[in-house]
Amino acid sequence: MNRMQDRVALITGAASGIGSACALRFAEEGAAIAGIDVGESPDERWRRACEVAPKHLFARADVRDDAAIGEIVARVRRELGRIDVLVNSAGTAGGGAVHEMAPEEFERVIGINLTGTFIPCRHVLRVMLEQRSGSIVNIASIEGLQGAEGGSSYNASKGGVVLLTRSMAMDYARVGIRVNAVCPGFIETPMFDAIWGMGGLEEVRDKIREAHQLGRFGKATEIADAALFLASDESSFITGQALAVDGGFTAGHRFGVARLMGLE
Ligand SMILES: NC(=O)c1ccc[n+]([C@@H]2O[C@H](COP(=O)([O-])OP(=O)(O)OC[C@H]3O[C@@H](n4cnc5c(N)ncnc54)[C@H](O)[C@@H]3O)[C@@H](O)[C@H]2O)c1
Repeated sequence: MNRMQDRVALITGAASGIGSACALRFAEEGAAIAGIDVGESPDERWRRACEVAPKHLFARADVRDDAAIGEIVARVRRELGRIDVLVNSAGTAGGGAVHEMAPEEFERVIGINLTGTFIPCRHVLRVMLEQRSGSIVNIASIEGLQGAEGGSSYNASKGGVVLLTRSMAMDYARVGIRVNAVCPGFIETPMFDAIWGMGGLEEVRDKIREAHQLGRFGKATEIADAALFLASDESSFITGQALAVDGGFTAGHRFGVARLMGLE
């Protein structure tokens, strides 16, 4: 219950889904929490996190807004004293056939998911450099590790997040800063609820669920547990990794052989 005692965690996308689940999990472990989100009303989980955390702060901003994020990072440091952990969870769904996609839509997805990871990193790294310690956890996706039909802009953005993670891990390793990514499978959040309405995706929902070897979709709390591990000292020798938390989605292909062996 005290793996994050005396630590300060800044979380983007903190108002919903995986971001608010991280806020609550970190607060339960003793962290002071700061949240950034473009949305106005944080969900119930963020509100519970604030009740548990020793200190909390929420600021409304777009992660693509360099000046605003810079100001918020300065405020977090002023009001909460330091920044030990940054979780980049703000993100948007996207994708579709490339030949039908407007450049503005491609740039919107890259802007929020990739540039919106880079900008908070760029400001928080300056604080962590002074402290000579810190842990950054970027929420990427299994779709940043491998291709997926219809993924285009989203996959490109998350693939970028994975390589940005690895590059930063190398650059900052010798100054005490670790950088890792969590790559979730399909996780039940408001974003997840929204994607089934896109382009008739509902039709392939069962197939996508079955591609998770555990036979179900994931929960935001399961991603928060992995983020907590990567943020905490328990992962002190881990940096530059992209950890798939995906119920086995990226483990391989299922043809029914396990069933033939009596394992279903
Ligand atoms: N849910 C899934 O199946 C899934 C799978 C893999 C990866 N992810 C990733 O996990 C992260 C969190 O997603 P989620 O499922 O919790 O979705 P969510 O929609 O519940 O939460 C995302 C949050 O990001 C905020 N946000 C969006 N654009 C923003 C911007 N420009 N500036 C600041 N905040 C912004 C939203 O307001 C929202 O509160 C995303 O990066 C997403 O790509 C989700």
